[in-house]
Amino acid sequence: MNKTFKRTLITSALPYANGPVHIGHLAGVYVPADIYARYLRLKGEEVLFVGGSDEHGVPVTIRAKKEGCTPQDVVDRYHGIIKQSFADFGISFDVYSRTTSKTHHQFAADFFRKLYDEGKFVEQVSEQYYDEEEHQFLTDRNIRGECPRCHAQDAYGDQCEKCGATLSPEELINPYNADTGHPLVKKQTKHWYLPLDQYQPWLEQWILNEHKEWRPNVYGQCKSWLDGGLKPRAVTRDLAWGIPVPVEGAEGKVLYVWFDAPIGYISNTKELCDAQPERWGTWQKWWQDPESRLIHFIGKDNIVFHCIVFPSMLKAHGQYNLPDNVPSNEFLNLEGNKISTSKNYAVWLNEYLEELPNRQDELRYVLTANAPETKDNDFTWDDFQARCNNELVAVYGNFVNRALQLTQKYYEGRVPECGTLSETDRQTLDEFSDVKARLESLLDQFKFRDAQKEAMNLARIGNKYIADEEPWKVIKTDPERVKTIIYISLQLTANLAIAFEPFLPFSSARLRQMLSMDEFAWGQLGRTDLLPAGKQLAKPSLLFSKIEDDTIAFQKQKLADTIKANEAANAKAEPQKPYVTFDDFQRLDLRVGTILECERVPKMKKLLKFLIDDGLERRTIVSGIAQYYEPEQLKGRQVVFIANLPPREFKNGLVSQGMILSAENYDGSLAVTTVEHEVKAGSMVC
Ligand code: MF3
Ligand code: ZN
Repeated sequence: MNKTFKRTLITSALPYANGPVHIGHLAGVYVPADIYARYLRLKGEEVLFVGGSDEHGVPVTIRAKKEGCTPQDVVDRYHGIIKQSFADFGISFDVYSRTTSKTHHQFAADFFRKLYDEGKFVEQVSEQYYDEEEHQFLTDRNIRGECPRCHAQDAYGDQCEKCGATLSPEELINPYNADTGHPLVKKQTKHWYLPLDQYQPWLEQWILNEHKEWRPNVYGQCKSWLDGGLKPRAVTRDLAWGIPVPVEGAEGKVLYVWFDAPIGYISNTKELCDAQPERWGTWQKWWQDPESRLIHFIGKDNIVFHCIVFPSMLKAHGQYNLPDNVPSNEFLNLEGNKISTSKNYAVWLNEYLEELPNRQDELRYVLTANAPETKDNDFTWDDFQARCNNELVAVYGNFVNRALQLTQKYYEGRVPECGTLSETDRQTLDEFSDVKARLESLLDQFKFRDAQKEAMNLARIGNKYIADEEPWKVIKTDPERVKTIIYISLQLTANLAIAFEPFLPFSSARLRQMLSMDEFAWGQLGRTDLLPAGKQLAKPSLLFSKIEDDTIAFQKQKLADTIKANEAANAKAEPQKPYVTFDDFQRLDLRVGTILECERVPKMKKLLKFLIDDGLERRTIVSGIAQYYEPEQLKGRQVVFIANLPPREFKNGLVSQGMILSAENYDGSLAVTTVEHEVKAGSMVC
């Protein structure tokens, strides 16, 4: 639809606060949203860019259980980490809040209540699995039981991992709670459903007919949902973590996380507008004025919620604008594998910044150059290095550095006069004169990857120009001509600072400062008089520096180590040995000994020699654990040993009178068996 708008509200998916954010998040959602927001701001348009953390939902409760803390502890920690990462990478949110805020709880509850009062929900009682000891209803993923097909004992409520069958919890034989192991019973529970089926005809008209311009991947996914026929969706859950359902008789129930989270976009806007009304106006202006345009930046797993469920909620409410576009990306893989938070297989933003300090623009550049706009894409460290060194350093950085250094050298940092233009000058200026229009057309279509290529192309034009014109040679024969070459190069440089600002804000800010540019606006793009003759520039410094091989090797090794650790953790335990009789066991004399002395054995790298107090006397035991302990660490400790093994002689004459028991970890490392609290030396282990 061709509508004109006065202002743009940009949202980016609220990340779950159950872990830090990684490059997949950045590439898929936050960098494109930020490019768009910065572009519109540079154009002088009215923009509001909303973000925040999604702090409810089951994933947070799972993390809390794993870490032995409360869900609030989890979200407090990760909200802080995530917010910091976004700030560090220059994601220019106008507001970044959270769904545990008071404003949001109130706002989301009111939103629900309005739809409830107007009869927009359908109430339905169904039977669901319940853990009587925990007083808890379970989600499908938390239910396990025997698979009805292959009879594996530990199939999930939604799928059997052994035979691959898709299941529903009702099909499991003897279902139990995956966390506690308790058997489950069926119990009736009431929930509220948004009857999406009633919105189907309206959605078909709105999306399939009126938004054919949406990206093919988005449009296609919507079409297949609609073709499949929409069903009512529960918007409440039996859970202890979330926003309580504001209805009598709904104790123990909360709003479904996918109901409350998108409302977070609105409540976060409200929080900002309430705090600074003179700057931002009312939140209603952004959400309800038909002249405001709404754009959702998301990843592909969020499409149904942003194109079908949330719009239906907004429609049911009645007073809201609907999204004008939902530029969703596909996924980013990492070195050929899926990025996984639970498997710790990712490049975490907080770790990246520690390991590659001040290299935010480099990552932003590569993620946009490889953005998964139309299909899944792969991030590799080799590609990262190549793009940084061959494009940022060798083209953009090199050109700018030459132009600025020569200005210092020949003109003490002052912009020279422009003389008569030569044929190549004219050609160069022609080539770059329509960059602005091309960039705009691409950015307006959310084609960030191509747009960045266009900006880099401008740098290529400059780089080629200065390399062809060779001012460092011409200076010896025709110094007047050099003035014009440098003048043109500097104007191109100023253009680059503006063109790259949405993509690479850090280096653009530095370049702008080196050029002492006061005015800095999108409208200046394409002009050749941005830096007037005689203007004094600041001292230049390098815009980009090379990424070294060992940096890349380190990152690759880190990922390889993660894969190895995951494989080892997944490796099956050794099969159990055959039964022994109790008498067999009784024949072993297991005791606790106190380590009196411990030392390394010369020339035997693996061995430690112990002097042990066994309760009766002192005995020497030799054990192959020298790679895992320092002798001092073990002195005074109590360990379990076999006391009635026949003495064993080592090659060098050393005799071991028994054996200390150790556990072998998955990676082959050893840990000695100790006792939980001190006992008398010589105590039997039975
Ligand atoms: N937390 C969700 C995810 O990471 C996204 C929520 S987007 C919102 O997939 F619209 F619900 F806020
Ligand atoms: Zn099965």
